[in-house]
Amino acid sequence: MSDAGPVLRTEGLRKSFGGFVAVDGVDFELAPGELRGLIGPNGAGKTTFFNMLSGMLDPSQGTIWFKGEDITDMPPHRITRQGMSLAFQITSVFPDMTVMENVLGALNGQKAALNPLGSYAGDVEGKRRAMEILTRVGLEDNADATVENLSHGDQKVLEIALALAGDPDLLLLDEPTAGLSASETRQVTGLLEELHGEITIMLIEHDMDVVMRLADTLTVLHNGQVIAEGTPDEIRENEQVKEVYFGRGH
Ligand SMILES: Nc1ncnc2c1ncn2[C@@H]1O[C@H](COP(=O)(O)OP(=O)(O)OP(=O)(O)O)[C@@H](O)[C@H]1O
Ligand SMILES: [Mg+2]
Repeated sequence: MSDAGPVLRTEGLRKSFGGFVAVDGVDFELAPGELRGLIGPNGAGKTTFFNMLSGMLDPSQGTIWFKGEDITDMPPHRITRQGMSLAFQITSVFPDMTVMENVLGALNGQKAALNPLGSYAGDVEGKRRAMEILTRVGLEDNADATVENLSHGDQKVLEIALALAGDPDLLLLDEPTAGLSASETRQVTGLLEELHGEITIMLIEHDMDVVMRLADTLTVLHNGQVIAEGTPDEIRENEQVKEVYFGRGH
């Protein structure tokens, strides 16, 4: 694609639950190849925003374009097929199966979505593709390991691998380092650094060190509204952001 417009764009995106407005008129744009951090205090509306993008939640108002196409009313499986992948939600990990079986399962799901008669089960091409994905994320030596025996870091990396099975253009990650140790966090952020540039990524992340290091640009949500957008340095110095994070006496 030359002359590529934004991968993702929203206009006036809003979600209310009863009388409570969780996402309040968000105008947003994401350029191809970008790694964007989405930050904001607990309850800011970050996950709700992701859930609308991926089709899990219907917006109350506003429009979402993905690769130029209006996807506002599309169901999740069609949005996935268009090339958007929300990790940790689209596919589930089966802990008592092997790493390879899980990736084959995700590839199968993808292929079945494209062609209900297609299946990769037991097929050489499927195994080759699965191995390619495992190599991309650095899990190739664990292909035959049972998932429940993997470290937390490897399990998280596997979940990202499953999200990559459909060869998405946009990967959405909601707190990929939550609950991980420092070294496991380094493993996951190392993978995201490698994926950066190959694929457009949007990352919700509470660990400021992690998100400031990884992201090209940060978007800050507060009470459902974008209060700031800029480079990590700009966001660090932004008075309104400081106020939201540090100025409320908690
Ligand atoms: N299904 C729902 N019904 C009612 N209120 C909801 C629902 N989902 C989210 N909310 C509310 O919307 C607000 C935003 O929630 P959301 O989960 O999007 O925040 P978040 O920024 O992801 O927070 P966190 O950092 O804690 O994950 C919160 O006040 C939450 O309680
Ligand atoms: Mg959340």
